[in-house]
Amino acid sequence: MGSVVKINVLTVPEEMRETLEKRFASRAGAVENSDGFEWFELLRPVEGTDSYLVYTRWASEEHFKAWMEGPMQAAHRQGPPAAEGGEAPQRPAASGSTLWSFEVVQSAGPKK
Ligand code: HEM
Repeated sequence: MGSVVKINVLTVPEEMRETLEKRFASRAGAVENSDGFEWFELLRPVEGTDSYLVYTRWASEEHFKAWMEGPMQAAHRQGPPAAEGGEAPQRPAASGSTLWSFEVVQSAGPKK
């Protein structure tokens, strides 16, 4: 069985796009150390859709599940706890999310 691709489809109101990209710019960076993690990309919509795509590729479904049950939780609790800065908890940048799942049937990279 080949790799699996998990894409989180984020609906982001126009006025929250910059906030979302800033949050990802300061993301936890924990996914890179996760077992079976192969690739991550944040895709900004240019044409044909208004949704941001959070593209991730994993060696197997099990590796993805282990991340979702573990490091993913901590990676999504980012941002200063209200108490510390006295600031209000962060307003979510996305107004909706859908998870798409794929199996990699064929892939190719640049020929060296
Ligand atoms: C309610 C659904 C979700 C929302 C609104 C959301 C939003 C976000 C945001 C704003 C960040 C940037 C860091 C932060 O501020 O926490 C983040 C990190 C991330 N999200 Fe999500 N996310 C959701 C679910 C998912 C799911 C289902 C996936 C699986 C593909 C995913 C993949 C990632 C990855 C890989 C990172 C980077 C984590 C790291 O750096 O370790 N997210 N997400």
